[in-house]
Amino acid sequence: MNRGEYREQILKGINSALKSRKLYPPGHPAIITPVRKVFNLIGELLKDQNALLISRLNDTLVFDDQPLFESEKNYQEIIHRMRERNIEVIVLERGISEQEFTDFIDMLLEDNRLTARELNEALKERGITHISLKSLEKRKEIEVYNDAVRVIRSVMSDIRLGRIPETEPVKEIVEDMTSSILADPNALIGLSMIKSYDNYLYNHSVNVSILAISLGRIMGLSDDDLRTVGISALLHDIGKTGIAEDIIKKPGGLSSEEWEKIKQHPVLGKDITRKMGGMSEDVGRMIYEHHIRYDHSGYPKTTSSLHPLSQIITISDAYDALTTLRVYQRARTPSEALGLMMSLSGRHFDPKVFKTFMDMIGLYPVGTMVRLTTNEIGVVIRTPQDTNSGITVKVLYDKNCKPVEEPFEVTIGNKEQERSILSTVEPALLNIDVGMLFKEEAEKKGD
Ligand SMILES: [Fe+2]
Ligand SMILES: [Fe+2]
Repeated sequence: MNRGEYREQILKGINSALKSRKLYPPGHPAIITPVRKVFNLIGELLKDQNALLISRLNDTLVFDDQPLFESEKNYQEIIHRMRERNIEVIVLERGISEQEFTDFIDMLLEDNRLTARELNEALKERGITHISLKSLEKRKEIEVYNDAVRVIRSVMSDIRLGRIPETEPVKEIVEDMTSSILADPNALIGLSMIKSYDNYLYNHSVNVSILAISLGRIMGLSDDDLRTVGISALLHDIGKTGIAEDIIKKPGGLSSEEWEKIKQHPVLGKDITRKMGGMSEDVGRMIYEHHIRYDHSGYPKTTSSLHPLSQIITISDAYDALTTLRVYQRARTPSEALGLMMSLSGRHFDPKVFKTFMDMIGLYPVGTMVRLTTNEIGVVIRTPQDTNSGITVKVLYDKNCKPVEEPFEVTIGNKEQERSILSTVEPALLNIDVGMLFKEEAEKKGD
């Protein structure tokens, strides 16, 4: 048998086991026999490769890279079970045991209609470690955002308690953020406007990660690099957990001793990630380098050249810090922050990376309050990232500066439109918390 025939036999076996289940109880030979046969075939294929991928593209099954003709007719049961659970890919890894495989087939047969995410959880609970599922389901951005805050909070609390944080939840949430950004580049950027005065470090970490992944996407980074950047950004300030809170929150005027302590955080951060299992060396390096600056005028002092991706973190970090209210500074508007950073480009920031960042954020970044030529005031909620469809503004105040009853969206930039942007408006003057606006909007979505 060649590999193609093996693949066909495997799918046929799974398909018939699923079919038999409608007629026979679990454990019946009509189910067990094909399952055992399939398991042996899988073992054969896994002698030469680390994992087998069974994916579903609409109604066609793709085994590794080979699409199977007439899938719909031949593998109806598999397609049906995958579709109703939103499963996009089934990954079978080398080392899989017959028990794991049998249990997995049983789970697909159960009538509880778990989604891929829930099935993954259930797989873990049953100790099935060599099978995983990828799902098509898109999570609401606000859930992803809130989860990310939860993850970094628990990472930092572990560190405070002297425990080594787990790597897996960090990787998983960065995976979710990345898919969300790839699916809709604007949505999470809007949420990165959520700032927290009291829990600065958590929201800041998540925001920097969102900005860094978004920037990396535009720079065309590989999937692996994108994830490494996302993880480094999320963890970039974990070293601050080792520094007394009153120093971190001190409104300026740090003694030189206190300043020396703060300057330790990139080093501490790197040391922590080194102790976390399965974390790439690059993560530690980018954390170590996030305050070094392009011209090496920052800290820690070093003469060696920077990791090519470190500036992504540095730039995203500076932007989020500048646009956030702190004890020692008011929150700058996105355009003010960009202006200030522009003056530091070539010194603190790599001009090429910064230029891409500026283009990404745009002249009127998502979250900017703007006054329109009609004298209405609104907030930019979408900017053209991949399209030329213009900027979308949600109008909040009418031309007499009265809040509108039903905020509505207008698209700026189409020639026929009567509205264009006149100027930016300081949100504080209107007493608006732009982050809250995005948060509420995201929470309404889909309900
Ligand atoms: Fe930092
Ligand atoms: Fe930071």
